[in-house]
Amino acid sequence: MPATTAVCRRAKLEDVEPLFQMIDGYAQRGIMLPRSREMLSRQINDFVVTEVDGLVVGCGSLCQLGEELVEIRSLGISEGYKGRGLGSLLVAQLVEEAKNLGIPKVMALTYEVSFFLKNGFEVVEKDIFPEKVWTDCIHCPKQHACDEIAVLKILN
Ligand SMILES: CC(C)(COP(=O)(O)OP(=O)(O)OC[C@H]1O[C@@H](n2cnc3c(N)ncnc32)[C@H](O)[C@@H]1OP(=O)(O)O)[C@@H](O)C(=O)NCCC(=O)NCCS
Repeated sequence: MPATTAVCRRAKLEDVEPLFQMIDGYAQRGIMLPRSREMLSRQINDFVVTEVDGLVVGCGSLCQLGEELVEIRSLGISEGYKGRGLGSLLVAQLVEEAKNLGIPKVMALTYEVSFFLKNGFEVVEKDIFPEKVWTDCIHCPKQHACDEIAVLKILN
C-alpha cells in the first residue's frame, strides 16, 4: 500500500494502548526509552501518530527543551510498515510543529542516522546540547554508555 494513503494526526487518549505496545516493543529491544501508559496519557498532546486504514502504525513526539530547541522522541514505525515513507511523514509533521511553535532547532538521539540524514538532519557532537537533553536518560539502562548519535536540523 503506498504511503499516500496514510494519515498523520495528533494523538488522542484512545491511542495510548497502541502507542504503549509499539514503544514497549522497541524499548524491549533497547532502541527506544520505555514509556508507561500513565506517562503516555499525561504526554499525549506531545504525540503525533500515523494511521493506515484506521490502524495506528507509527508515532513520534516532540519534547521542548527551551525556546530554541525541541527533541524528537519515541519515533517508530511498526514492523511491516517500514520503508514506505511513513517515518519521513512523521518527521515532516514534527518539524512542521516545531516551525509553528517558532522553534528553530530540532534534534534527536538515534541509531537510525541514515534515515535522519535523508530527512535533512546532520550529525553533531552531543556536547553542544544543554543539560536538559539528558534528563530523560535516567530512564535508560545505557545511560553511562550511551552509543546513540545526535542529529540536528536547523529550520529556515
Ligand atoms: C527509523 C524509522 C522510524 C524509519 O521509518 P520508515 O517509515 O521505515 O522510513 P521511511 O520509509 O520514511 O524512509 C525514508 C528514507 O530513509 C531510508 N531509511 C529508512 N530507514 C533506514 C535505515 N534504518 N537505514 C538507512 N536508511 C533508512 C529509506 O530507505 C528511505 O530512503 P528513500 O527515501 O531514498 O527511499 C523506522 O525504521 C523505525 O521505526 N525504526 C525503529 C525505531 C527507531 O530506531 N526510531 C528512531 C528513534 S529516534
